[in-house]
Amino acid sequence: MKIAVVGATGLVGGEILKVLAERNFPVSELIPVASERSVGKQVEFKGKPYTVVSFEDAIAAKPAIAIFSAGGSTSLALAPKFAEAGIIVVDNSSAWRMDPTKKLVVPEVNADTLTPEDKIIANPNCSTIQMVVALKPLHDRYKIKRVVVSTYQSVTGTGKAAVDQLFAERAGNTDVAKVYPHPIDLNVLPHIDVFLDNGYTKEEMKMVNETKKIMGDDSIQVTATTVRIPTIGGHSEAVNVEFENEFELSEIVAILSNTEGVIVQDDPANKIYPMPLTAHGKDEVFVGRLRRDESQPKTLNMWIVADNLRKGAATNAVQIAEYLLKHNLVEAEPVTA
Ligand SMILES: NC(=O)c1ccc[n+]([C@@H]2O[C@H](COP(=O)([O-])OP(=O)(O)OC[C@H]3O[C@@H](n4cnc5c(N)ncnc54)[C@H](OP(=O)(O)O)[C@@H]3O)[C@@H](O)[C@H]2O)c1
Repeated sequence: MKIAVVGATGLVGGEILKVLAERNFPVSELIPVASERSVGKQVEFKGKPYTVVSFEDAIAAKPAIAIFSAGGSTSLALAPKFAEAGIIVVDNSSAWRMDPTKKLVVPEVNADTLTPEDKIIANPNCSTIQMVVALKPLHDRYKIKRVVVSTYQSVTGTGKAAVDQLFAERAGNTDVAKVYPHPIDLNVLPHIDVFLDNGYTKEEMKMVNETKKIMGDDSIQVTATTVRIPTIGGHSEAVNVEFENEFELSEIVAILSNTEGVIVQDDPANKIYPMPLTAHGKDEVFVGRLRRDESQPKTLNMWIVADNLRKGAATNAVQIAEYLLKHNLVEAEPVTA
């Protein structure tokens, strides 16, 4: 299958190339796309160099799927052009997520909603993906009433320039482009994406709205505080979940241990719990610190960590492509190389 990766020179794009290779996705031809300034540059896929082309050349090459990670405005401008040419777009930006005509998909949760008519498919926000993977099986069993989440998010969530800012600050170099309004090294910023009229940030409202859409249940109440911290391995979340129904902690552990894509790391006596350092580079969602909220009934506290560039972006997008292929929702050409 011919695959285009739009944003191939970026952090998420680079991870998409790695994940496609690692999971042995049947790529017959890779078409890397980036902005005009990168056309002619090379990216590596399976040990071979590939030349970055313009979006016009990519559309002319007629890939079956284009995985986008090139920002919201690029996606708004280019995804319809790809879709009109019959190319299925899986988009990592926030451009299409809340469009009622577009599916917002986490394969473990709602890939069964996909149909052959879906030409632009949205990949959710990274913090939301890792949370819903862990919450869905618990919602199915106990029905979630309310979620209170606080995040501790990696600078890799902002892209390459943010990683450069963190390491430049750490090296004492002030001559670097600033993507954050304050220093990030040795700091914590309670500010991700722009502030909205209701006092929340856009990232916080993404967690509220996307959770309801992916879980297919508007009755779930969600409130979020999203925070940037100087780490690179992944996003962490303290999640407080109130259920309609009573639960046994041992049953929660059993359910999560048997959930596809989830790994329970919950052994406080041996200091075992999820951390960005250990989640880095992994595709799974790690869950630990499972304990009853002793301040109110039917309520659980949990700690959820995942690599935002993997399950929060690249892995989820490639899993959507795998689902399309497996369920004959995309035409695959014969593999020629
Ligand atoms: N980082 C995360 O954890 C994460 C998670 C989920 C979703 N996302 C989303 O994924 C997207 C990319 O994030 P990132 O972290 O990879 O950012 P990044 O490192 O800054 O990379 C941005 C990519 O977009 C390309 N691009 C920019 N303008 C373009 C244009 N007009 N046409 C084609 N390509 C263009 C860039 O190409 P050049 O190199 O030529 O500039 C680069 O390849 C964003 O929408 C982000 O919200 C990121």
